Amino acid sequence: MNQITETPTNNHAYSSIFQGTGVEEFKKCIQHHLMSFQGRDPDRAGDQDVYRALSYALRDVLMEKWIKTQKTFYAGKMKRVYYLSLEFLVGRSLGNAIINMGLMDEVTQALEQLGYDLERLRECEEDAALGNGGLGRLASCFMDSIATMKIPAYGYGIRYDFGLFNQKIVDGYQVETPDSWLRLGSPWMYERTSFMYPVQFYGHVTATTDENGRYRARWTDTEIVMAMACDMLVPGFKNDHVINMRLWRAKASRELDLRFFNAGNYITAVENKVKSETISKVLYPSDDISEGQELRLKQQYFFVAATFQDILRRYRKDNDTFDDFPNQVAVQLNDTHPAIAIPELMRLLLDIEGLGWELAWNICVKTFAYTNHTLMPEALETWPVDMLGRVLPRHLEIIYEINRRFLEEVALCYPGNLRKIQEMSLIDEGPVRRVRMANLAIVGSHSVNGVAALHTELLKNYLFRNFHEMYPDRINSKTNGITPRRWLLKCNQELSGLIGDKIGYDWVVDLDRLRDLETYCDDPAFHQRWQAVKLVNKKRLAKIIAATCCIEVDPETLFDIQVKRIHEYKRQLLNVLHVIHFYQRLITRPEEAVTPRTIIFAGKAAPSYVKAKLIIKLINSVAAVVNNDPRVGSRLKVAFIPNYCVSLAERIIPAADLSEQISTAGTEASGTGNMKFALNGALTIGTLDGANIEIREEVGADNIFIFGMTAEEAEYEKKCKSRKPWQIYERNPEVREIIDAIAGGAFSNGDTELFRPLVNDLLSENDPYLLLLDLESYLQCQRLVGEVYADRATWIRRSILNVARMGKFSSDRTIKEYAEEIWGLKIDR
Ligand code: IMP
Repeated sequence: MNQITETPTNNHAYSSIFQGTGVEEFKKCIQHHLMSFQGRDPDRAGDQDVYRALSYALRDVLMEKWIKTQKTFYAGKMKRVYYLSLEFLVGRSLGNAIINMGLMDEVTQALEQLGYDLERLRECEEDAALGNGGLGRLASCFMDSIATMKIPAYGYGIRYDFGLFNQKIVDGYQVETPDSWLRLGSPWMYERTSFMYPVQFYGHVTATTDENGRYRARWTDTEIVMAMACDMLVPGFKNDHVINMRLWRAKASRELDLRFFNAGNYITAVENKVKSETISKVLYPSDDISEGQELRLKQQYFFVAATFQDILRRYRKDNDTFDDFPNQVAVQLNDTHPAIAIPELMRLLLDIEGLGWELAWNICVKTFAYTNHTLMPEALETWPVDMLGRVLPRHLEIIYEINRRFLEEVALCYPGNLRKIQEMSLIDEGPVRRVRMANLAIVGSHSVNGVAALHTELLKNYLFRNFHEMYPDRINSKTNGITPRRWLLKCNQELSGLIGDKIGYDWVVDLDRLRDLETYCDDPAFHQRWQAVKLVNKKRLAKIIAATCCIEVDPETLFDIQVKRIHEYKRQLLNVLHVIHFYQRLITRPEEAVTPRTIIFAGKAAPSYVKAKLIIKLINSVAAVVNNDPRVGSRLKVAFIPNYCVSLAERIIPAADLSEQISTAGTEASGTGNMKFALNGALTIGTLDGANIEIREEVGADNIFIFGMTAEEAEYEKKCKSRKPWQIYERNPEVREIIDAIAGGAFSNGDTELFRPLVNDLLSENDPYLLLLDLESYLQCQRLVGEVYADRATWIRRSILNVARMGKFSSDRTIKEYAEEIWGLKIDR
């Protein structure tokens, strides 16, 4: 059944298609791709053609290096790491490939000689937006670090036909349009028609007894969808090491078609073909909320089942038994999205390989590790038992058996404690019985990690308290990180150049080296250059804002930026309250000195998230009033930049003076935008939440603006409600003025209904995000920000110190910790 066609090997020595990487070779290779593959006359080719030809030329080099890299894995009999993620938020590949391969000079010259401009070609590339936000971008940063640190690893996921939707703003509202990023094909996607695996769904399980009298299950009468491998290659930084993300694409199986053909039902056969291919059609656009739909479950199993066939195929090349499996294979589950892998590996070991339960379970637990990304119970995935049992009947049986054995253990630990049994069970016995995927992932893994120190502590003490009590060594912390290659070297060439001039470029692969910048934190000449770089980046962003929002902003003003998914817990609304307050100050007290600001937002809301979409409308409505009020001038401008994505982030982040990281303490697991901004010289205004706490530890309390409640205080307020929003409203005239303006229709042409849901939330005692409870502290802190910015030398000093002290937040550090502490690898750097 699992027949795989291997890439044919022959006895001839592999001859390189691409003999060198000099300028002349590049030109030839680009021309070759233009003519042979695209049928274009090089004299008449446009930017899009040349972008493609260049990408193919680079891919040739990458492929050669990838094969060499893979051979070193085999030669060294290395333990392989598999990073399973339903999302990879890749962004663009061209610039990153050129930089990581160290070919900037050659490519630039080759293009110049051919009459093309690299910057323009880079703009031809569609973002690969196969992810929603933090979780997906983390996976992509990890791929970069894994390649740079030469770790024998692979990313596995889904090649969606449609990535995260495109966002337009129409009359202030978000409008979604499909992201058909593959309509012209992607030169970075390597389709491997020879790697096809069958994936089963539905059907039923029949029990038999094998020749040794052991229970054996057979999963039969299933529907089969084929998974085809599509590889994206990821180069390490200037190290000739190339790894791959293997993304699965659903293809109809031939058998399925034949069944209907034979019954004479041609149209149904074709319809069914289309239906089975919908599995990899579209990325679910929700972030931090669980989607309980059958298609989503099928996506999860589809990619897990194909991945494990690939893992076992590779493992079997050098192994006859499974004894060594956990020493050869480590699997990291990025959230619970791939957690169905636990019963899937059990199924393969029990039903296909014939291992006994104990042995199979031991292998599973040693193989799997699970990363949790959330503190919010509504984001924890659960599947209705009925649905899971229908789509994956054998897996439900296995989950029940895992649970039966696990609950026996719980009962032994806590005799007579029914509450523990109920809370820890893999099955939620509510009105609709559901499988708790987080509980499954915890029980089936040897490591469960949070993504920042505070997050991990909160997991241990609240969300996963019972499990932590029972398995005290299982939960550990791995603070997230970001790749310095994309998030400084590539996105901020000016700043990288300035830093490089002073301290060299070792920081690119050893971010702690940025510490050497501290020497210059009081050097006036360096200050001047630092400021000039920021201004260049701000001017570039100002042009983008003019082009996309038709708003003229002044690059000399303080750029105050909040870009991230729109979510109530991230509190873009709190930011808007400050915008309104700032506006009201300008109008009512025009004589007061203020630091002029440009306040910038960007981010997408899940299409079904009504409240978040209303917040977008409010931001745009406030912007319309403020930007058109002649009394304000350039002292305040507000812009919502549409269609936030990785390539836009690369333009926005280097231009920030102030980074808004203002989630309610205890809600944001880590955040990585916070790190990207600080690495690019923005100062943070933030709460003591997620990785903000560690950023403060690193940069020093003097170099960050912290306000608001701690996680503990927020938890206390949610329970005890000692301070009430309406009391704050009544007591503080500034707060009242802000709320009254929204409620009274000042930003909705007198309509008092439009934003009522937001006003009601703000004033409600049950507001889970406690906006008004943090508002006074936020406004005060923002005032301080304005004062410090006015003292330019102090601001720049702090900006330099932020950059200098960001070493900890390199994803190289994070990956080293995963490798050594979870995956059982030794890293020599
Ligand atoms: P895979 O690991 O089987 O997916 O193969 C990836 C690449 O590694 C192949 O395209 C080969 O270039 C190389 N490769 C595969 N199997 C072997 C092996 O047994 N020894 C050395 N190299 C191999």
